[in-house]
Parts: sequence; C-alpha cells; structure tokens
Amino acid sequence: MTGQPSIDGNEELLVRAAGPEDLAAITGLINKAFQVERFFLGSDRIRADEVRARIAQGTFLLLLSGGTLLGCVYAELRGTSGFIGLLSVEPQRQKAGFSRVLMTAAEDYFRRNGCRQAELRVVNLRIELPPYYRHLGYREIATEELPAEIARILPCHLIVMTKALV
Ligand SMILES: CC(C)(COP(=O)(O)OP(=O)(O)OC[C@H]1O[C@@H](n2cnc3c(N)ncnc32)[C@H](O)[C@@H]1OP(=O)(O)O)[C@@H](O)C(=O)NCCC(=O)NCCS
Repeated sequence: MTGQPSIDGNEELLVRAAGPEDLAAITGLINKAFQVERFFLGSDRIRADEVRARIAQGTFLLLLSGGTLLGCVYAELRGTSGFIGLLSVEPQRQKAGFSRVLMTAAEDYFRRNGCRQAELRVVNLRIELPPYYRHLGYREIATEELPAEIARILPCHLIVMTKALV
C-alpha cells in the first residue's frame, strides 16, 4: 500500500505497509508517543516481540517524510470490522494533521477489504481521546476490561468506539 498525500504542499508524504525491517523504528515510535500513558501503564507501551506479532497478524501503516518515520497505525481485518490500534505520531510533529492521514489510510484499507465499520479502543483515563476520535467520526458503544497482558498501575478500563465505513 503506497500513496503520496501532502498536507500543506511543502512536505512529500508517503504511506506504506511496514515489513519486518521496520520493527525497531515502529517499537521506538510507539513507546515515544505513548509516554503520555506512563502515568497509568508504569512502563513502555509495547515490546518489539509484540510489534513483530502484529506485523505478522495485521498491517502497520507507516507515514514517512523522506526517510523519516512520522507516525504509524495498526490495522487488522476482522471480518466486516476493521480494528485500529496503536495510533502514534512523533511527539514533535503532533497537531499537524498527520494522524488524520493515518486514520484515513487505515479506513481506506478497510473499505478496500470489505469492512463495513472501523473500531478502536481508548483507555478511560485519556479523557482527551474520545473528543478527538469523535471529531474523526467515531462514537462510543461499549466499555471493556483492559486485556490482562497489559500492565497498569492505576485502575482503568477501555472505551470501545466505532465508525460506519460508507
Ligand atoms: C492522538 C494523536 C495520534 C493525535 O495525532 P496528531 O497528529 O497530533 O493529530 P492531528 O493533528 O492529525 O489531528 C487530527 C484532527 O483531530 C483534531 N483534534 C486533535 N485533538 C483533538 C481533541 N482533543 N478534541 C477534538 N479534536 C481534536 C485536530 O484539530 C484535527 O482536526 P482537523 O483534521 O479537522 O483539522 C497523537 O497525539 C499521539 O500520537 N498521541 C500519543 C499516542 C496516543 O495517544 N494514541 C492514541 C491512543 S488510542
């Protein structure tokens, strides 16, 4: 999957699917972006072996400028539903529209593969995230326990959000 979206015309952007050679860069980017969750995770968000498993199971879409990784998102086909996770933008490049490029790429990938909805989960302690995802067309539909394999140092739960893909 490739494309060359450009936000302001000054930067040539490329979206492509990750391969095993991107493992270290993806792991580093996610853990840098998810520092914001350290107050309840108490540790890094993800290990390299977990990223490797996801590359094998689904698709990481990468957003690059030149050779520089600006962001990534995990997209997995689950029947008619597309699962989105681990959306990350390089902290120094946030608030510039890059996550919208990644989310649009993930949703387009789902549509091309027959999905009728996209779904994602946010931790309830991140109160800024539901308004952000609502802005992108998602709505809260349920709550869930955090998976047992994710360590946490504060009580928290997940909020499930979905968007119809038309
Ligand atoms: C969340 C995150 C991905 C957002 O990335 P970003 O590149 O800064 O976001 P963008 O600049 O692309 O914003 C996309 C849109 O959302 C809007 N937006 C951003 N924050 C918002 C908020 N709190 N409420 C409502 N809208 C918001 C922006 O104004 C923009 O709108 P527009 O495209 O209509 O102009 C980024 O902050 C990040 O990597 N955070 C750490 C990891 C994380 O929390 N991931 C999500 C876990 S579920």
